[in-house]
Amino acid sequence: SILEKGILMGAPPVVSTNPNSLEEQAKKIMPKKGWEYIKGGAGESSTMDANRLAFRQWKIVPRVLTPTTPRDLSTTLFGERYDSPVLMAPVGVQSWYHPDKEIGTATACANLRVPFTLSTAASTSIEELVEKVPQGPKWFQLYWPLDEEITASIITRAKSCGFKVLVITLDTWTLAWRPYDLDPASVPFIVGEGDDIGFTDPVFRRKFAERTDGETPEESAVQAGMYWCSEVFPGVSRSWEDLKILRKYWDGPMVLKGVLSVEDAEMAVKHGIEGIIVSTHGGRQLDGAVGTLDVLPEIADAVGDRITVMIDSGIRTGADILKAIALGARAVFLGRPVVYGLGIDGEAGAEAVIAGLLADLDLTMGFSGAKTIKDIKRLLLKKVSHPG
Ligand code: FNR
Repeated sequence: SILEKGILMGAPPVVSTNPNSLEEQAKKIMPKKGWEYIKGGAGESSTMDANRLAFRQWKIVPRVLTPTTPRDLSTTLFGERYDSPVLMAPVGVQSWYHPDKEIGTATACANLRVPFTLSTAASTSIEELVEKVPQGPKWFQLYWPLDEEITASIITRAKSCGFKVLVITLDTWTLAWRPYDLDPASVPFIVGEGDDIGFTDPVFRRKFAERTDGETPEESAVQAGMYWCSEVFPGVSRSWEDLKILRKYWDGPMVLKGVLSVEDAEMAVKHGIEGIIVSTHGGRQLDGAVGTLDVLPEIADAVGDRITVMIDSGIRTGADILKAIALGARAVFLGRPVVYGLGIDGEAGAEAVIAGLLADLDLTMGFSGAKTIKDIKRLLLKKVSHPG
């Protein structure tokens, strides 16, 4: 059962079971570069705070004398049945946190049958990931290159490697004002050194060689990193019409990540998109943006029966997951906590964090009177004016 897999029943956990202590623990153990990069939000981190406050403003009103065993956490997304409504969010350059990198996180996810989303900015190539972790469901996240040939090459590789769903991140067409990268005291964000972010893509390699008189990205990593960043964070936003370009190369479900308004959710439906992720990128892009749970209910009410609405940013407990589902999300994505687990104890740490959150969700459902995911209804929640 999920509880048996959870750390509650096992040996004393290596990773903390308290989300706040988990962060402190990661700070002590993680490489400085990784910690500096993951911990912060853009600007003054007001959106990171807003994400947490939004969860705190909703409280669960539990039920008693409502038998809830055995509980069933399974759900269906885009025609596939999953054991729980929990997925791993795309998080780039995982070699910065632990040598187990994406292979560790993906194995942890596969062990718990949680879909793993591979980032375009991963330190593991698409092919290496599926070779080392053939088991478990996988989604692919696209940072959309300006160059259509590179775009087509990345998407086609993901498709032929068996990735089920294409997640297109739309809030990061340029990197935001991120003090943790910009401040002189911080470890600077330099892509390329020791990473193979996208560098294995054959079209990218050919184009890089053409620009540099035959050099490989490995020979000139920082320059390759700059070229790569200029493609995937070009400083120019795409338009709704451009989505047609991606449809040429991807016939499976497409999910837009970074939608925060009812208007954009309606546009996604109008353009035939299958899913959206209500996301602030963990508060790392537009600082001052609204917390995700603050807009989830209106978005789900407007489009939830026409498109699969999912959410991330600030999910730290089983109660957070239940609240998101009660307010209309079909699934939630975990970000920082799992990467803290990875940083603390590699694959085992990532698995402990995910297993713990699944166990916590299972208990929270039990206390709330929900036997299945469908039983998690908005009636279970009450909005309060004293978050805490
Ligand atoms: C991210 N996120 C992200 N998103 C994406 O689409 N592609 C990526 O490569 C990354 N990389 C990345 C790195 C780090 C260090 C973080 C913290 C986040 C955003 C991620 O998918 C997700 O939206 C957030 O992590 C959710 O917020 P919390 O719950 O982690 O605070």
